[in-house]
Amino acid sequence: MLATVSTLALTGIEAKPVKVEVDIQNGLPNFEIVGLASVAIKEARERVRSAIKNSGFDFPNRKIIVNLAPADFKKEGSHFDLAIAVGILLATGQLAKELPENYFLAGELSLNGAVRSVPGILPMALELEAASEELNLVIPAENSAEAALVREVASYHVSHLCDVCDFINGEKLLEPVEYSEPGRNDKENISIPDFSEVKGQANAKRALQIAAAGLHNVILIGPPGGGKTMLARRMPGILPEMTREEVLETTRIYSVANLLNSSNPLITQRPFRTPHKNASTSSIIGGGRVPKPGEISLAQNGVLFLDELPEFNRDLLEGLRQPLEDKLVTIARAHSTYTYPADFALIASMNPCLCGNYGSDLECSCTPMQIHKYLGRISGPLLDRMDLHVEVPRIQYEQLKDNSSAEKSESIRGRVSQAREIQGRRFAGKKITLNSQMTPSLVKTHCRLDEESEQLLKSAFNKFNMSARAHDRILKVARTIADLEASDQIKLQHLAEAIQYRSLDRKYWRNL
Ligand SMILES: Nc1ncnc2c1ncn2[C@@H]1O[C@H](COP(=O)(O)OP(=O)(O)OP(=O)(O)O)[C@@H](O)[C@H]1O
Ligand SMILES: [Mg+2]
Repeated sequence: MLATVSTLALTGIEAKPVKVEVDIQNGLPNFEIVGLASVAIKEARERVRSAIKNSGFDFPNRKIIVNLAPADFKKEGSHFDLAIAVGILLATGQLAKELPENYFLAGELSLNGAVRSVPGILPMALELEAASEELNLVIPAENSAEAALVREVASYHVSHLCDVCDFINGEKLLEPVEYSEPGRNDKENISIPDFSEVKGQANAKRALQIAAAGLHNVILIGPPGGGKTMLARRMPGILPEMTREEVLETTRIYSVANLLNSSNPLITQRPFRTPHKNASTSSIIGGGRVPKPGEISLAQNGVLFLDELPEFNRDLLEGLRQPLEDKLVTIARAHSTYTYPADFALIASMNPCLCGNYGSDLECSCTPMQIHKYLGRISGPLLDRMDLHVEVPRIQYEQLKDNSSAEKSESIRGRVSQAREIQGRRFAGKKITLNSQMTPSLVKTHCRLDEESEQLLKSAFNKFNMSARAHDRILKVARTIADLEASDQIKLQHLAEAIQYRSLDRKYWRNL
């Protein structure tokens, strides 16, 4: 007998409907899952077998073929268990009725038949919400909070295989998940250190403010103990609140990565990710045996902070080049490609050499060869993608002891938020919201220069042998600087400031 049950498969941060077809034939006992199922899905066989037996049903001692249709893309994950088990029970006639086609089942089974939480419920619910007909989603009870974020889909939570069976038999109704208006996670707001604690370093603070306003990339370079790490760690305090779209978009990624808190699943605080230099390339870029979003995607709409940049693996640093340009990352596999968003501000910090003193007032004890090797770990193309190059010198004793209070994060954040509002209005109705996301044609429209500024840009471009990329990036940064002053026009001083942030490669790298 043949039975069909609906479920969904994840492809990147999207979900696609999938039919689980179960056919049971006479023949030698066998249990096959076909339809480009991954090795992990094939493990479902053992879980499903035990769950069915331990829920008081018979597991058929015949030839079972499960097909995941359509078979043209690879399926991953353990959430197919529930649909496979229900399909087998339907195909063996152990349930009294059919399951209507508009019910989609997702959940992992434990050996005793309990339904366990799975990643990706939010994208699944959003996919069903986008459909024109009325669809129902049956999910593990532990994932209820995620499904509750989606209004237009009727979701039901179950904790045991028997809950679904009783529903199909008409003995019990499913427990509905109530829609709850997404709120803010105020608890997350705890203990972000404040910018006012950093003495001096006005130049670096200014650059970080520009980066927060337009989501531009920053590289901080300087001797040990100047406050690079200290400055970067204070970024979360000046990032503006997330919009509703950004909250859902970011939460969707965390859902697929299985990083949501089951009671309060919304990501309402802008991400600030700080991977360690020894983290694997796939954990940062994304991928792995079961493809998952990496740190660059988890930093979506926020900041990825790479402290001690040259210490990171070379392949990893080169792997950042494509996502930094495209603002998404594509992971290709034999039968599928996974695309994850990766639109973040990269904040990197580094010393200019091993002893850290190269380029400062103190004597550098490194040999030219050592300096060459150290700086050479950062490739030209990667450096070209950094919008704001900032030197962070050691501060003077007087600056350290200066007790006149510096500007607080909250007030910087106020300006950043205003600049974001201006950008939001500028790009209303377009797919983008920030200056850093402008396409070349939008740069042409929104970054017009007057005659004098045009001359300045031309002479800087020629004098410093800039790339076309650097040219566009300078204009985007200048646009953000103008927005911070609420100026419609990019003025000469805005452009000049943006150009002076592209100076470090000349000071350190050109002499190599
Ligand atoms: N500008 C500053 N104002 C106040 N305190 C500072 C400043 N810079 C450094 N410090 C103090 O020094 C400590 C170390 O600073 P931090 O770790 O940020 O230096 P760094 O530039 O990252 O050095 P390294 O290159 O060795 O990583 C801070 O925790 C802080 O106590
Ligand atoms: Mg540091």
